[in-house]
Amino acid sequence: MSEELGVSTLRYVEAARVGSIAEGAGAAFVVDGRVIALFLSGGRYFAIDDDCPHQGASLSKGRVDGCSVTCAWHGWRYSLEDGRWLDNPRSSRGVATYPVRVVDDRIEVGVPVSETGPVAT
Ligand code: FES
Repeated sequence: MSEELGVSTLRYVEAARVGSIAEGAGAAFVVDGRVIALFLSGGRYFAIDDDCPHQGASLSKGRVDGCSVTCAWHGWRYSLEDGRWLDNPRSSRGVATYPVRVVDDRIEVGVPVSETGPVAT
């Protein structure tokens, strides 16, 4: 499930270029060592972890419907806005979400600094 992350805890990393994702579709990209599914729906970009929590299918290959994606393997649905598992909203299962911004023609995803910063020795 998504976490509330302050702006200062994020570092924006280029994931893709504008035009590389069709409206109403998704694609998977490796961003800072993790596989993230990027979607374009209604002119907005969304970023979530690509692995479906059920059995690991690539959510980027799912069907986009507004602000949700349906997993291509068994049909579990997730919110693109907050990662909730929409078939069982009371469940804690879900996927991580990441903020997205567009700078010039770059689609950038905000990843937690703690996982990207230099390792203290
Ligand atoms: S792997 Fe996604 S619903 Fe089963």
